[in-house]
Amino acid sequence: MEVDILLGLQWGDEGKGKIVDFLAPKYNVVARFQGGPNAGHTLEFEGIKHVLHQIPSGIFRKGIANVIGNGVVLDPVIFRQEIKELEKLKLNPKENLFISKKAQLILPTHRLLDAANEKAKGERKIGSTLKGIGPTYQDKVGRRGIRVGDILSSGFVGRYEELRDMHCELLDYLKFKYDLIKDEKLFHSAIKYLKEFRLIDSEYFINNKLQDNNSILAEGAQGSLLDIDFGSYPFVTSSNTMAAAACTGLGIPPSSVGEVYGIFKAYCTRVGSGPFPTELHSELGEKLREVGHEFGATTGRPRRTGWLDLPALKYSVMINGVTQLFMMKADILGYFDEIKVCTEYRLANGEITERLSYEMQSQDVQPVYKTFESWSVFDSIPSTLDELPYQLKKYIRFIEESVGVPITLVSIGPDRTETVS
Ligand code: GDP
Ligand code: IMO
Ligand code: MG
Repeated sequence: MEVDILLGLQWGDEGKGKIVDFLAPKYNVVARFQGGPNAGHTLEFEGIKHVLHQIPSGIFRKGIANVIGNGVVLDPVIFRQEIKELEKLKLNPKENLFISKKAQLILPTHRLLDAANEKAKGERKIGSTLKGIGPTYQDKVGRRGIRVGDILSSGFVGRYEELRDMHCELLDYLKFKYDLIKDEKLFHSAIKYLKEFRLIDSEYFINNKLQDNNSILAEGAQGSLLDIDFGSYPFVTSSNTMAAAACTGLGIPPSSVGEVYGIFKAYCTRVGSGPFPTELHSELGEKLREVGHEFGATTGRPRRTGWLDLPALKYSVMINGVTQLFMMKADILGYFDEIKVCTEYRLANGEITERLSYEMQSQDVQPVYKTFESWSVFDSIPSTLDELPYQLKKYIRFIEESVGVPITLVSIGPDRTETVS
């Protein structure tokens, strides 16, 4: 069997949680391969709305193994809170959740460093989620990070204190005031709790599952335009968010990858700083935020909103090798009279391009738009893609032809059932 990958093609919050939950019954394993509690993946079904941060979105489906892979950075305190919320819903994740011993641990001082770095940047801040993601990946690459498996060794507390002391020196250098006592206490009790879970060599687990003919869905976090290499650097997250990261974040060979599902909103949103060529600074943007409930699932921050950006979508499809596109939140555009899509950019020197070139990031680019007629608000759920309103089908066809990949799923509401495929 193969590993199918589902990932966001924009700046995150495309609706990955909803669709992983929707697809999960077709799979034996759902695995997260990068990111950490900066993610907020929302699921809605049977009147329940639930936001997951580190736990894979297959957790609500019976008979599925959920894996937190080696590429993830794990905050044990947030992890315990997430588990407690799931237990309230009568789930028992101790049975079907498996955590890689090679996943990196987020320490309380990583979170403090995240805040201190942002403060030091002032106006140029990234707009990080302040979950300690950047500093934790920095320690991973700096080869001094502490991993989940280390909590089982007798030297753990010593290693922790050594890294903490180094962080404290950095915090003092940055003149950042903090009080660690309460957070450290919570951290150590959460570490004790984490030991009650199945901590595994997840690369063996996943490859053995593959050999035994199990199907695996890899769940991306963030989005391709936040990728550390290909996103709008430095306004990005600190991991590779692209399809290739599923291989390094789970320990699977590229030859095992099957479908690459690329998920995008019918428009665009972004939280945090950085370029956003189609951003609407007008009342239309405000309306998109209100009607689309565009407020962050992790931080509650209002999301910036704008029209669909086709050059950016094509770029994401290119670097990921997307085989199928899923379009989300098509219902929201039904509240508008007409809608726009950016087909190209006009550069400051008048040149028209659809490339997201290196130089472009520092230039003021103007989107070139094509206008479409909108569709009416849905009063029932169509049972096939063919039954969608003709204006929406025209919009879909235009995107498919521009990007060269079929749209095989359209989402028209937050609930599991509001999905047309
Ligand atoms: P993720 O991070 O990619 O999982 O996405 P988020 O959960 O952060 O944000 C997506 C938001 O849109 C959530 O509040 C979902 O419940 C909601 N949502 C997902 N699909 C649809 C849809 O088709 N229509 C509407 N109206 N809301 C949706
Ligand atoms: P999901 O998985 C949207 C953004 C932050 C900030 C930048 C860096 O829910 O789609 P970080 O905390 O990673 O150092 O922040 O990345 N960001 C996200 N935006 N959805 C996410 O995750 C995000 N995770 C990080 O807002 O701009
Ligand atoms: Mg989200």
